Amino acid sequence: MSPITPSEVARTSVVRTVAELRSRLAAHRRTGLTIGLVPTMGALHEGHLSLIRHARARCERVVVSLFVNPAQFNERSDLERYPRRERDDVALAVEAGADVLFAPSVEEVYPPGFATSVEVLGLTDRLEGAARGSEHFRGVATVVTKLLCMAMPDVAYFGQKDAQQVLVIRRLAADLNLPVRIEALPTVREPDGLAMSSRNALLDPDQRVRALALSAALDRVGELATAGERSAEALLAAAHATLSSAGVSPEYVALVEPDTLEPIDRLTGEALLAIAARIGDVRLIDNATLRPTPAAPSSQRLPGETITRCNA
Ligand code: PAJ
Repeated sequence: MSPITPSEVARTSVVRTVAELRSRLAAHRRTGLTIGLVPTMGALHEGHLSLIRHARARCERVVVSLFVNPAQFNERSDLERYPRRERDDVALAVEAGADVLFAPSVEEVYPPGFATSVEVLGLTDRLEGAARGSEHFRGVATVVTKLLCMAMPDVAYFGQKDAQQVLVIRRLAADLNLPVRIEALPTVREPDGLAMSSRNALLDPDQRVRALALSAALDRVGELATAGERSAEALLAAAHATLSSAGVSPEYVALVEPDTLEPIDRLTGEALLAIAARIGDVRLIDNATLRPTPAAPSSQRLPGETITRCNA
């Protein structure tokens, strides 16, 4: 793709208010154009850009939101040092195919008197909800519901990197009868395997090396599963061993049913392996879906099923 010119960036208006966003999208909606929304908190990296490119390829208009949502941060220090670089984000998002950038202020999203929150029960008690407290997913569910109501997209795109977030958003969209399709796309990784994250920028060189333990642990479990290990205890022990050999003590390592997030004892079908760990004071998460490979024709198949790690 040729480099984006400043005038192209300028033409892609950054809209700051819900009223402006609605008026920008009204004509598209009237003429029946498909609208895709990619919600982000900015500090865009290849993971975000893959969502934007995917939306560009499938929708006639693409809205990208850039909003660091204070309501979903359970630690003040995390919110304060969250990377913010709107100018770069605008150029990157436009180059990846965004038509409209929605970058509202905190007051625009949460005006004085704001008193409503969206809470998805059950799913949010586990993994990230248990580790970060109930306000995290309440903040995510509330802001995503608001963004969906503000932009009214036909499709909204999210990353499987935040697997639990995808489940929570699918649940709220179904429960609230929101007329939107929720799509989840695979995790984009650095060449060495580290899942891309805006927080990776906060890692020092030594922490960056140790952070590799998360994807290494996912790989190790994938190998064991492919080799036939089915015991969750054994698989989780292997993940812990990989993490601890890199000096990383995780907040959690969990092997769960992929729709309910209930812990499983044995790998009998598709399962989600999820890890959260602090590297220094940078909190990272990663996950992989373990799934049985489709049965090959019997002439090509060895006895017994195999399990592969899907790099989701
Ligand atoms: P943020 O962390 O900025 O992520 C925005 C979107 O990018 C999310 O759907 C996330 O899952 C996806 N994403 C992040 N890293 C990715 C990667 N390595 N590969 C693929 N996709 C990736 O998630 C949020 O913001 C917020 O919670 C938000 C949904 C915007 C609500 O505030």
